[in-house]
Amino acid sequence: MSIIVEVTDLTKRFNEEVLAVDNISFTVNEGEVFGFLGPNGAGKTTTINILTTLLRPTSGKAVILGMDVSKKQDEVRKAIGLVPQELTVDDELSGRENMYLQADLYNVPRGEAQKRIDELLELVGLEDSADRRVKTYSGGMRKRLELAEGLIHRPRVLFLDEPTLGLDIQTRTAIWEYIRDLRKSTNITVFLTTHYLEEADELCDRIAIIDHGKIVALDTPEMLKQSVGGDVLSVGTALDKDLTAELKSVSNVVDVKREGEVYRIKAMNGEVATPLVLNTIWNHGGVVTSVSLSRPTLDQAFLEYTGRSMRDAEQAGTFDKRAAARALRRRS
Ligand SMILES: Nc1ncnc2c1ncn2[C@@H]1O[C@H](COP(=O)(O)OP(=O)(O)O)[C@@H](O)[C@H]1O
Ligand SMILES: [Mg+2]
Repeated sequence: MSIIVEVTDLTKRFNEEVLAVDNISFTVNEGEVFGFLGPNGAGKTTTINILTTLLRPTSGKAVILGMDVSKKQDEVRKAIGLVPQELTVDDELSGRENMYLQADLYNVPRGEAQKRIDELLELVGLEDSADRRVKTYSGGMRKRLELAEGLIHRPRVLFLDEPTLGLDIQTRTAIWEYIRDLRKSTNITVFLTTHYLEEADELCDRIAIIDHGKIVALDTPEMLKQSVGGDVLSVGTALDKDLTAELKSVSNVVDVKREGEVYRIKAMNGEVATPLVLNTIWNHGGVVTSVSLSRPTLDQAFLEYTGRSMRDAEQAGTFDKRAAARALRRRS
């Protein structure tokens, strides 16, 4: 597996007060969907802007496809695609015209552009609305157009900054589908940022949890969830004998608590542990009256690594912004 993005001790300081990115290191593998998950103000856009050559790092290094982003800016720009957080399409033009503009920007020859534009508009499901002005598009359609624009020069790495920000859940699900299709049909590497837990969970092969400019955890969604302490299995029994000790020795079981007739069992890989636990109860002549398995969520992982839930972190972000606005007004 080859490494496509390699970031080493990257730091961005905007001024005395703002350390937006604080000494982060990670790698992204070829063909992977890699996500930055973190609340508002965590440093996601700053990182993407450095990787896509729009900002210079204060210190540290980022290498994409073997090229240092601070030294080979033009080459890096040609090799990557970027769909920024803010919408960039022109409202007065049609979807197709926007695509031609983008093709010109990247010097794609006309004939080739025509072919690619048809393909891409189909990929994002806009073939029927391609000749309407973008101002008649919904938010989801605009986002899909931007996704198509980001692909016009066949980049090997695509950067998506909050690809479904502010869209409703159906539209978000549709965009996830387009990103998955894209990954299946090409060997593109995707780096995305999001503050939506489900989005990171659904799309990413690996997630870096970022908070206050630092990567606090980095793993597959499954491992991040498991690292919180595994699954919780609740089993109701009709049996006088206490099986706590026997259940504790079942493989994959981490902890067992008996609450009356119900055993609350912490386990790694609940789907493996469950039948083993049930067998143990049956082998001791017990009758199982209820079973439920609950799996940890990414929000629990977020809480574990940052000390606050994603929702609280988001509210803190909004609060900071208001405070900053007040400070600005006082100054002027
Ligand atoms: N141009 C800038 N000047 C000063 N501070 C900035 C600038 N851009 C971003 N910041 C600050 O850097 C931090 C990280 O911002 P950003 O990377 O946009 O976070 P995210 O994309 O995760 O919401 C925030 O505190 C933000 O206010
Ligand atoms: Mg951002």
